[in-house]
Amino acid sequence: MNSHTFAPMIDHATIERILDAAEISDVVSDFVTLRKRGVNQLGLCPFHNEKTPSFTVSPAKGIFKCFGCGKGGNSVNFIMEHENLNYPEALKYLARKYHIDIVEQEETEDQKQQKDDRESMMIVSSFAQKFFTRYLWKENEGRTIGLSYFRERSFRDDILKKFEVGFAPDGKTPFTEAAQKEGYKIDFLEKTGLTIKRDDWQRDRFAGRVMFPIHNLAGRVIAFGGRILKEDKKIAKYLNSPESEIYHKSKVLYGIFQAKREISKTEKCYLVEGYTDVLSMHQAGIENVVASSGTALTVDQIRLIRRFTPNITIIYDGDEAGIKASLRGIDLVLEEGMNVKVLLLPKGEDPDSFAKKMGASGYLEYIQKNETDFIQFKTHLLLKSTENDPVAKARLISDVIHSISVIPDTIIRSVYIKECSNLLDVDEKVLYAEVRKQKTKQNDDFRKKEFREKSKTVAPKPDLPLVKASDFSIEELEFLRFLLKHCKARLFEEEDENPNETEVLSVGEFMIQELENDDLVSENPLFKKIFYEVRDNLDNEKFDSWKHFVNHPDGEISQLATNLLSEKYVESKRWSKAGAFTEQEEDILDILIPKIINRYKFRKIKIMQAEIEKAINVASDVKDYDTVFDLLSTITNLKKVEKELAEKLDSRAFN
Ligand code: CTP
Ligand code: MN
Repeated sequence: MNSHTFAPMIDHATIERILDAAEISDVVSDFVTLRKRGVNQLGLCPFHNEKTPSFTVSPAKGIFKCFGCGKGGNSVNFIMEHENLNYPEALKYLARKYHIDIVEQEETEDQKQQKDDRESMMIVSSFAQKFFTRYLWKENEGRTIGLSYFRERSFRDDILKKFEVGFAPDGKTPFTEAAQKEGYKIDFLEKTGLTIKRDDWQRDRFAGRVMFPIHNLAGRVIAFGGRILKEDKKIAKYLNSPESEIYHKSKVLYGIFQAKREISKTEKCYLVEGYTDVLSMHQAGIENVVASSGTALTVDQIRLIRRFTPNITIIYDGDEAGIKASLRGIDLVLEEGMNVKVLLLPKGEDPDSFAKKMGASGYLEYIQKNETDFIQFKTHLLLKSTENDPVAKARLISDVIHSISVIPDTIIRSVYIKECSNLLDVDEKVLYAEVRKQKTKQNDDFRKKEFREKSKTVAPKPDLPLVKASDFSIEELEFLRFLLKHCKARLFEEEDENPNETEVLSVGEFMIQELENDDLVSENPLFKKIFYEVRDNLDNEKFDSWKHFVNHPDGEISQLATNLLSEKYVESKRWSKAGAFTEQEEDILDILIPKIINRYKFRKIKIMQAEIEKAINVASDVKDYDTVFDLLSTITNLKKVEKELAEKLDSRAFN
């Protein structure tokens, strides 16, 4: 049985064949009457109502673009949009049209079945939650064992109700029998793990436990944690639902449904370990809290939090061994660009006991006083154990630098380096060099991984994503457009020492080199992806950057590339006014490219300045004058570069 097929996989080679065969004007003219207009073809847009044609097809580029409604893309995108199909369906449509064989998996039926299965599993889970909750409040066994346990731990009724906790009756199959009597199929009871079934016997998984339902973001129950009430060292204290089609433990955070509103409101998320920690903090009035359920945080969980806030505070109980074990995991959080703080509770307390002791105001006050920035926390913690041991100290430095190097924001990184240079008593330059080394390695690893994943198979894509032009500056878009469009074109560069000799560079090589040398590659993830993919293909003779990116398996990239290649998109008003585009772009690349690069750099430096100014404000607020001076000197340098660029732009751009 194949429980993980979400949709059919079509292999890379087949997709290539389909894309090669599906000539854009041939595909479009099944639906739109096209007339020749220069090198392009023009027709009435099928996606919006119009009387004068603005729907353009470029056979050379393999794309369509409507300058009325803005829709655009390659052949596959056209079919998706026009026939209302998803990506694999559109590919299949085209495969049929061009008689290309795809191994047909009856996936639509499969998918339908799977959707039905998931729905049934959620319905069973919801029934179970209601059953357990009713049992806790209404049945004798539930009240005397379950409810009195919660009361003993001083949980208020409103909190128990908010989290829909319950009690599972003890015995072999009281729950399973009740569910079956209500018409729930044993198949789904088994798939959700509520019932454990073998050939000849079955039993309730959670018998005799208090039950904590786990909700998804939408508030639907997808799994349970059940706590045993006996003190029995041999039996696990908590038993959780097994992984299933509706419950992927690594993607779920306990309490996210109840916390999400408060997390956005307060711009902050607390992370604790356990179910009861979450309940107690709510009871104390702190509602922006979720639990990782005792395991290390995963990237999916971090991204779930990041949908609501970039600020996370991890609350630890005062056990140092446990903390050290979890330090590495926190690098993942930094890597996702989150601001991480750490709060250490007094010895012997966990978030649950501490919330009950302190109440909301005392707890919040303690948090404000004691929460520390993660990098500082880690440095201090490790420093304690490395006194007089140079080897251990070297390891510590590389460890802390690793944490710093994964932070995506340059400015934040530099503030940390400064700070650690003081704490560790190591020259800043040394730390910078180490950060650069680690970053280079990470970038390489990242690209290798991307490449491996890409070359496996192409997963079906969801519907056309919307790449917002506003995510980019106009300078970035212009840079990308020229990079993609003219990558292979040849540029001549004068050698400095020897003005008579010229070196032949391609536009791509020149553009890549210019940004890499100055360390000015945009932090925008799409920009970075495209930039490095071009870089890695510079030596590849067969690499056709248009084709590569317009047909890119990542929908966001292919859409952006399509937009970039449909001329009007990025043509900046300033420039066309200045007359730069009155000539054929191709003929004056030697003038245009340096201008584009300089504009890009100019803009990037402006952004960096703004960020540094912000950091200066922060640092002077806390009277950290060392950092202020340091940042001021960085700004002075940037200003110098800016001035140089401005001069270059002035003399060249508008003449
Ligand atoms: N956990 C688990 N399985 C276990 C033990 C723990 O899944 N056998 C998870 C649970 O999500 C639990 C969390 O790890 O909430 C933290 O464990 P622990 O601190 O031992 O439990 P508490 O949350 O403190 O639970 P209680 O206060 O009820 O003892
Ligand atoms: Mn506890």
